[in-house]
Amino acid sequence: MKTTLASPIEQLGIVGAGQMGAGIAQVAAVAGFDVLLTDIDDAGLERALESIVHDLDRLLEKGDLNQDEVAAALKRITTSTHLKEHSRCDLVIESAIEDCDIKRGILQQLDNVCSAGVVLATNTSSLSIARLASATGRPDRVIGMHFMLPVPRMQLIEIVCGMETSTETRDLSVDLAGRLGKTPVECRDFPGFVSNRLLIPMINEAVFAVYEGVASIEAVDQIMQLGMNHPMGPLRLADLIGLDTCVTVMRMLHDGMGDPKYRPCPLLVKMVEAGRLGRKSGRGFYDYPSG
Ligand SMILES: NC(=O)c1ccc[n+]([C@@H]2O[C@H](COP(=O)([O-])OP(=O)(O)OC[C@H]3O[C@@H](n4cnc5c(N)ncnc54)[C@H](O)[C@@H]3O)[C@@H](O)[C@H]2O)c1
Repeated sequence: MKTTLASPIEQLGIVGAGQMGAGIAQVAAVAGFDVLLTDIDDAGLERALESIVHDLDRLLEKGDLNQDEVAAALKRITTSTHLKEHSRCDLVIESAIEDCDIKRGILQQLDNVCSAGVVLATNTSSLSIARLASATGRPDRVIGMHFMLPVPRMQLIEIVCGMETSTETRDLSVDLAGRLGKTPVECRDFPGFVSNRLLIPMINEAVFAVYEGVASIEAVDQIMQLGMNHPMGPLRLADLIGLDTCVTVMRMLHDGMGDPKYRPCPLLVKMVEAGRLGRKSGRGFYDYPSG
């Protein structure tokens, strides 16, 4: 049976209040959506609200928003640890940790509580949309909306249709991206989509260059910044993304494509084993003293 999509979207749900979920909530609230942000962790919700307040204050200082706009945006955000409250949402974006079983579980629960026409989007950066969608009874209304970090400053949303995603769902997500002030670009449901298929192997190759003694860490970064006009060198970027995340994506590309060219560099793997995860652990290719 064909179900009409819920429209127009006014109440937006977001599951997962990490750095991505918080960023999406902020952008949506500034764009005028009522936002329900949920997480399993109360402390995580508090951290998300703190980071949103902090970022909105910076936009206020810069003159990008005025006091009334900041106050109105904050008023539009509500938080909860109860996933079932998404029953009132017109569209829900799942942005919990990158774990297939956890994401499938969340989508299954959302499928049970949300109205039939509601689209369930996922912000996965590497998992198959088709596999996630198959956890629900509405695979035609499941789609990938892959935001970039930091969400308030990055223009792109990769729109990824799974095997069963309907054209109506695609159109609705493209329209939503525009209402969020972002630019949607579509690609197909293959490992790493386009962004991570290109970005993470480039980072991996930069690590190989250091591993093989071709150049120092600083030299690799300088060459890409000054020679290719990259705003940040690949190794500094790896520290920002998290070296563990880089290894996970390389392994996913390696498994998904079965091509040895995607093998993670042994140096990258070793650094993760040693707990050097980049900025979040205080040490990666560079040192990040606390504060
Ligand atoms: N970090 C990036 O650069 C980036 C970029 C694009 C997309 N993504 C994707 O966005 C998603 C979130 O990434 P992040 O960087 O915000 O991660 P994060 O670790 O900062 O946050 C994940 C959040 O999910 C919550 N969570 C865990 N299990 C949950 C559950 N069962 N129900 C509800 N919440 C749960 C955690 O408490 C945490 O607050 C991932 O799928 C990731 O791949 C990340």
